[in-house]
Amino acid sequence: MRIVRTKDYEEMSRKAAAIISAQVVIKPDCVLGLATGGTPVGIYKNLVNWYKGGDLDFSEVTSVNLDEYRGLPREHKESYWSFMHRNLFDHVNIKPEHINLPDGMNMDADAECARYDKVIESVGGIDLQLLGIGHDGHIGFNEPSNAFDLGTHCVKLTDETIDANQRFFNNRDEVPREAYTMGTRTIMQARKVLMVVSGKDKAEIIKKAFFGPVTPEVPASILQMHPDFTLVADEDALSLL
Ligand code: PGA
Repeated sequence: MRIVRTKDYEEMSRKAAAIISAQVVIKPDCVLGLATGGTPVGIYKNLVNWYKGGDLDFSEVTSVNLDEYRGLPREHKESYWSFMHRNLFDHVNIKPEHINLPDGMNMDADAECARYDKVIESVGGIDLQLLGIGHDGHIGFNEPSNAFDLGTHCVKLTDETIDANQRFFNNRDEVPREAYTMGTRTIMQARKVLMVVSGKDKAEIIKKAFFGPVTPEVPASILQMHPDFTLVADEDALSLL
Protein backbone atom coordinates (compact mmCIF):
# COMPACT_ATOMS: atom_id res chain seq x y z
CA MET A 1 0.00 0.00 0.00
CA ARG A 2 1.30 3.39 -1.01
CA ILE A 3 0.02 6.63 0.52
CA VAL A 4 0.28 9.89 -1.39
CA ARG A 5 -0.35 12.81 0.97
CA THR A 6 -1.62 16.00 -0.60
CA LYS A 7 -2.16 19.49 0.72
CA ASP A 8 -5.81 19.72 -0.26
CA TYR A 9 -8.60 18.48 -2.53
CA GLU A 10 -7.19 20.18 -5.64
CA GLU A 11 -3.80 18.55 -5.27
CA MET A 12 -5.45 15.20 -4.50
CA SER A 13 -7.48 15.51 -7.71
CA ARG A 14 -4.44 16.45 -9.80
CA LYS A 15 -2.23 13.65 -8.43
CA ALA A 16 -4.92 11.00 -8.86
CA ALA A 17 -5.70 12.24 -12.37
CA ALA A 18 -1.98 12.01 -13.16
CA ILE A 19 -1.97 8.34 -12.11
CA ILE A 20 -5.00 7.60 -14.35
CA SER A 21 -3.45 9.59 -17.16
CA ALA A 22 -0.19 7.60 -16.86
CA GLN A 23 -2.21 4.40 -17.14
CA VAL A 24 -3.87 5.62 -20.35
CA VAL A 25 -0.57 6.77 -21.84
CA ILE A 26 1.25 3.52 -21.01
CA LYS A 27 -1.62 1.30 -22.16
CA PRO A 28 -3.94 3.24 -24.52
CA ASP A 29 -6.42 0.35 -24.70
CA CYS A 30 -6.63 -0.06 -20.93
CA VAL A 31 -9.75 -0.85 -18.92
CA LEU A 32 -10.57 1.80 -16.33
CA GLY A 33 -12.90 0.98 -13.47
CA LEU A 34 -14.50 4.35 -12.74
CA ALA A 35 -16.36 5.70 -9.75
CA THR A 36 -18.97 8.33 -8.94
CA GLY A 37 -19.53 10.44 -5.81
CA GLY A 38 -18.35 13.88 -4.81
CA THR A 39 -14.65 13.03 -4.49
CA PRO A 40 -13.76 12.04 -8.09
CA VAL A 41 -15.32 15.15 -9.69
CA GLY A 42 -12.02 17.08 -9.55
CA ILE A 43 -10.15 14.16 -11.12
CA TYR A 44 -12.52 14.11 -14.08
CA LYS A 45 -12.11 17.90 -14.52
CA ASN A 46 -8.35 17.44 -14.82
CA LEU A 47 -8.70 14.53 -17.27
CA VAL A 48 -11.09 16.57 -19.45
CA ASN A 49 -8.67 19.53 -19.43
CA TRP A 50 -5.72 17.36 -20.38
CA TYR A 51 -7.78 15.72 -23.14
CA LYS A 52 -8.77 19.15 -24.45
CA GLY A 53 -5.13 20.22 -24.35
CA GLY A 54 -4.25 17.26 -26.57
CA ASP A 55 -2.34 15.32 -23.91
CA LEU A 56 -4.77 12.43 -23.46
CA ASP A 57 -6.58 10.15 -25.86
CA PHE A 58 -9.49 7.96 -24.73
CA SER A 59 -10.27 6.49 -28.16
CA GLU A 60 -9.12 3.00 -27.18
CA VAL A 61 -10.05 3.13 -23.50
CA THR A 62 -12.80 0.91 -22.09
CA SER A 63 -14.60 1.86 -18.91
CA VAL A 64 -16.51 -0.31 -16.49
CA ASN A 65 -18.26 1.57 -13.75
CA LEU A 66 -18.32 0.36 -10.19
CA ASP A 67 -22.02 0.57 -9.56
CA GLU A 68 -25.46 1.90 -10.48
CA TYR A 69 -28.70 2.50 -8.60
CA ARG A 70 -31.32 -0.19 -9.18
CA GLY A 71 -34.62 1.10 -10.52
CA LEU A 72 -33.36 4.54 -11.62
CA PRO A 73 -33.63 5.16 -15.39
CA ARG A 74 -30.28 6.09 -16.87
CA GLU A 75 -31.74 9.41 -18.08
CA HIS A 76 -32.37 10.44 -14.45
CA LYS A 77 -29.83 13.14 -13.61
CA GLU A 78 -28.63 11.24 -10.54
CA SER A 79 -28.13 7.90 -12.26
CA TYR A 80 -24.45 7.00 -12.38
CA TRP A 81 -24.78 6.73 -16.16
CA SER A 82 -25.76 10.44 -16.22
CA PHE A 83 -23.07 11.38 -13.71
CA MET A 84 -20.34 9.75 -15.80
CA HIS A 85 -21.53 11.37 -19.01
CA ARG A 86 -21.88 14.81 -17.42
CA ASN A 87 -18.48 14.70 -15.69
CA LEU A 88 -16.34 12.80 -18.19
CA PHE A 89 -17.70 10.83 -21.13
CA ASP A 90 -19.48 13.74 -22.89
CA HIS A 91 -16.22 15.72 -22.93
CA VAL A 92 -13.66 13.17 -24.14
CA ASN A 93 -13.33 10.85 -27.13
CA ILE A 94 -14.22 7.57 -25.41
CA LYS A 95 -16.32 5.41 -27.76
CA PRO A 96 -19.93 4.89 -26.57
CA GLU A 97 -19.56 1.15 -27.18
CA HIS A 98 -16.60 1.10 -24.78
CA ILE A 99 -18.69 2.48 -21.89
CA ASN A 100 -20.11 -0.08 -19.46
CA LEU A 101 -22.29 0.34 -16.39
CA PRO A 102 -24.68 -2.03 -14.66
CA ASP A 103 -28.19 -1.61 -16.12
CA GLY A 104 -30.23 -0.28 -13.20
CA MET A 105 -33.45 -0.85 -15.10
CA ASN A 106 -32.94 -4.58 -15.48
CA MET A 107 -34.95 -5.64 -12.45
CA ASP A 108 -33.78 -9.25 -12.78
CA ALA A 109 -30.90 -8.85 -10.34
CA ASP A 110 -29.33 -12.27 -10.87
CA ALA A 111 -29.33 -11.89 -14.65
CA GLU A 112 -27.96 -8.33 -14.53
CA CYS A 113 -25.17 -9.14 -12.08
CA ALA A 114 -24.14 -12.21 -14.10
CA ARG A 115 -24.18 -10.12 -17.29
CA TYR A 116 -21.98 -7.45 -15.73
CA ASP A 117 -19.45 -9.96 -14.42
CA LYS A 118 -19.25 -11.37 -17.96
CA VAL A 119 -18.66 -7.88 -19.37
CA ILE A 120 -15.73 -7.35 -16.99
CA GLU A 121 -14.33 -10.75 -17.91
CA SER A 122 -14.82 -10.19 -21.64
CA VAL A 123 -12.80 -6.94 -21.59
CA GLY A 124 -9.93 -8.77 -19.91
CA GLY A 125 -10.41 -7.49 -16.36
CA ILE A 126 -9.71 -4.05 -14.91
CA ASP A 127 -6.31 -2.38 -15.25
CA LEU A 128 -6.99 0.44 -12.82
CA GLN A 129 -9.92 0.73 -10.44
CA LEU A 130 -10.74 4.14 -8.98
CA LEU A 131 -12.54 4.19 -5.61
CA GLY A 132 -13.87 6.58 -3.01
CA ILE A 133 -14.73 5.45 0.51
CA GLY A 134 -17.95 5.84 2.46
CA HIS A 135 -18.04 6.97 6.10
CA ASP A 136 -18.89 3.38 7.04
CA GLY A 137 -15.97 2.00 5.01
CA HIS A 138 -17.98 0.98 1.97
CA ILE A 139 -16.33 0.72 -1.45
CA GLY A 140 -18.70 0.85 -4.37
CA PHE A 141 -21.90 -0.13 -2.59
CA ASN A 142 -20.21 -2.93 -0.63
CA GLU A 143 -21.62 -2.10 2.76
CA PRO A 144 -20.35 -3.48 6.10
CA SER A 145 -21.34 -7.14 6.35
CA ASN A 146 -20.33 -10.51 7.75
CA ALA A 147 -18.36 -11.63 4.74
CA PHE A 148 -16.41 -10.12 1.89
CA ASP A 149 -18.72 -10.21 -1.10
CA LEU A 150 -17.96 -11.96 -4.31
CA GLY A 151 -18.74 -10.64 -7.79
CA THR A 152 -21.34 -8.11 -8.89
CA HIS A 153 -24.43 -8.26 -6.70
CA CYS A 154 -27.52 -6.36 -5.67
CA VAL A 155 -27.37 -4.53 -2.33
CA LYS A 156 -29.77 -2.72 -0.06
CA LEU A 157 -28.30 0.67 0.83
CA THR A 158 -27.74 1.27 4.54
CA ASP A 159 -29.48 4.19 6.26
CA GLU A 160 -26.09 5.92 6.52
CA THR A 161 -25.51 5.70 2.76
CA ILE A 162 -29.05 6.87 1.99
CA ASP A 163 -28.44 9.84 4.32
CA ALA A 164 -25.10 10.62 2.64
CA ASN A 165 -26.57 10.44 -0.88
CA GLN A 166 -29.64 12.47 -0.03
CA ARG A 167 -27.70 15.68 -0.87
CA PHE A 168 -27.94 14.75 -4.58
CA PHE A 169 -31.76 14.32 -4.56
CA ASN A 170 -34.69 16.60 -3.71
CA ASN A 171 -35.43 14.60 -0.59
CA ARG A 172 -34.56 11.37 1.22
CA ASP A 173 -37.54 9.47 -0.22
CA GLU A 174 -36.18 9.92 -3.73
CA VAL A 175 -32.89 8.15 -2.96
CA PRO A 176 -33.05 4.64 -4.46
CA ARG A 177 -32.94 1.89 -1.83
CA GLU A 178 -30.98 -0.64 -3.87
CA ALA A 179 -28.01 -0.75 -6.21
CA TYR A 180 -25.97 -3.11 -8.32
CA THR A 181 -22.31 -3.03 -7.39
CA MET A 182 -19.09 -4.78 -8.27
CA GLY A 183 -18.17 -6.97 -5.32
CA THR A 184 -14.99 -6.87 -3.29
CA ARG A 185 -13.71 -9.85 -5.30
CA THR A 186 -14.12 -7.89 -8.54
CA ILE A 187 -12.33 -4.91 -7.01
CA MET A 188 -9.50 -7.06 -5.62
CA GLN A 189 -8.97 -8.59 -9.05
CA ALA A 190 -8.23 -5.18 -10.58
CA ARG A 191 -4.53 -4.95 -11.41
CA LYS A 192 -4.18 -1.55 -9.73
CA VAL A 193 -6.49 0.12 -7.23
CA LEU A 194 -6.49 3.87 -6.65
CA MET A 195 -8.51 5.38 -3.80
CA VAL A 196 -9.10 9.09 -3.35
CA VAL A 197 -10.16 10.63 -0.07
CA SER A 198 -10.57 14.21 1.09
CA GLY A 199 -11.77 15.91 4.24
CA LYS A 200 -11.69 15.58 8.04
CA ASP A 201 -14.98 13.68 8.05
CA LYS A 202 -13.16 10.73 6.42
CA ALA A 203 -10.17 10.71 8.82
CA GLU A 204 -11.71 8.24 11.27
CA ILE A 205 -12.64 5.69 8.61
CA ILE A 206 -9.22 5.96 6.91
CA LYS A 207 -7.53 5.09 10.19
CA LYS A 208 -9.92 2.19 10.78
CA ALA A 209 -9.77 0.82 7.22
CA PHE A 210 -6.02 0.92 6.66
CA PHE A 211 -4.51 0.82 10.15
CA GLY A 212 -6.99 -1.58 11.75
CA PRO A 213 -7.87 -5.24 11.19
CA VAL A 214 -8.97 -6.56 7.79
CA THR A 215 -12.66 -7.27 8.32
CA PRO A 216 -15.82 -7.26 6.18
CA GLU A 217 -17.30 -4.95 8.80
CA VAL A 218 -15.02 -2.35 7.17
CA PRO A 219 -15.16 -3.39 3.49
CA ALA A 220 -12.29 -1.11 2.37
CA SER A 221 -9.93 -2.82 4.82
CA ILE A 222 -9.49 -5.69 2.33
CA LEU A 223 -7.44 -3.30 0.17
CA GLN A 224 -4.61 -3.72 2.70
CA MET A 225 -4.12 -7.10 0.99
CA HIS A 226 -4.08 -5.71 -2.57
CA PRO A 227 -0.62 -5.92 -4.21
CA ASP A 228 -0.90 -2.56 -5.99
CA PHE A 229 -3.03 -0.20 -3.93
CA THR A 230 -2.45 3.57 -3.85
CA LEU A 231 -4.28 5.90 -1.52
CA VAL A 232 -4.22 9.55 -2.54
CA ALA A 233 -5.55 11.56 0.37
CA ASP A 234 -5.38 15.12 1.60
CA GLU A 235 -3.96 16.20 4.95
CA ASP A 236 -7.42 16.44 6.50
CA ALA A 237 -8.28 12.86 5.60
CA LEU A 238 -4.92 11.69 6.99
CA SER A 239 -5.09 13.88 10.10
CA LEU A 240 -5.65 10.98 12.54
CA LEU A 241 -2.71 8.89 11.36
P1 PGA B 1 -18.08 10.69 -1.78
O1 PGA B 1 -18.55 9.16 -1.74
O2 PGA B 1 -16.93 10.75 -2.72
O3 PGA B 1 -19.28 11.40 -2.30
O4 PGA B 1 -17.71 11.04 -0.38
C1 PGA B 1 -17.62 8.17 -1.56
C2 PGA B 1 -18.35 6.85 -1.48
O5 PGA B 1 -19.44 6.79 -0.90
O6 PGA B 1 -17.81 5.86 -2.00
